[in-house]
Amino acid sequence: MSSDEHPVDAGANSAGNGDEISPPQHLAIIMDGNGRWANRQNRSRAEGHARGAEVLRDVTRWVRERKISELTCYALSTENYQERPQEEVEFLLELLAKYLRSEREELNRLGICFRAIGRLSELPEETQSLLEETVQATREHQDLVLRLAINYGGRAELADAAFRQQSAPPGTSLEDCLYEPRMPDVDLLIRSGGEIRLSNFLPWQSSYAELHFSEVLWPDFTEVDLDQALQQYALRTRRFGRLPAWDAEAE
Ligand code: FPP
Repeated sequence: MSSDEHPVDAGANSAGNGDEISPPQHLAIIMDGNGRWANRQNRSRAEGHARGAEVLRDVTRWVRERKISELTCYALSTENYQERPQEEVEFLLELLAKYLRSEREELNRLGICFRAIGRLSELPEETQSLLEETVQATREHQDLVLRLAINYGGRAELADAAFRQQSAPPGTSLEDCLYEPRMPDVDLLIRSGGEIRLSNFLPWQSSYAELHFSEVLWPDFTEVDLDQALQQYALRTRRFGRLPAWDAEAE
């Protein structure tokens, strides 16, 4: 998306009269803290991830209710996929399969279009089929796009895009070769779990995102935590490289 398409200044993201807050169009979330949550409760990491998947379900509904049109969540990074114990990765893939089977009806009921990004062709075939079936079954829905990043890495996405660009027709841009070229830029990126880093998540799409770091571990993340992030976002002034409005007027 070009900077021309972004609202600039406009009294930050709020209506300015205290009545209405314009929500971000695209919210991205790094769902971190499942392992620590489990540790603190003397439970297994698997239980932490299972609880994390329930929170993902809840957050999807809250986000839809707030009329945000795109939600992209980091479910499994390429680094997690390669570096975590095989047992944990297998559990996460099982959890994903369970989630896709149990949620399809609900996604349809709520008008949610499901998508997935990442090096999906490296996933087990059963996972790929389930992902594809869910994408196809929900593709017409328009109330919310829910996108899961699975075996996703930002550097891998850019490397894959550069590779694809080499065999694309002349004039094809790098952006056109990303996993999902028409994905809108991320407006707000939330990371739970207290770490202050981006961990290779959507570097191209988040270049101008507002960032919100929450101390809350993902399995404890609530509607109040979401609203806190949205309220802080509403107070931010976004300029996309331009001068502030008051400065530009003085020119
Ligand atoms: C990071 O927490 C989280 C992950 C590696 C997985 C995130 C996955 C979920 C929230 C559930 C996924 C949902 C589906 C549908 C598969 P961590 O384990 O690194 O936590 P830690 O930093 O406390 O150890």
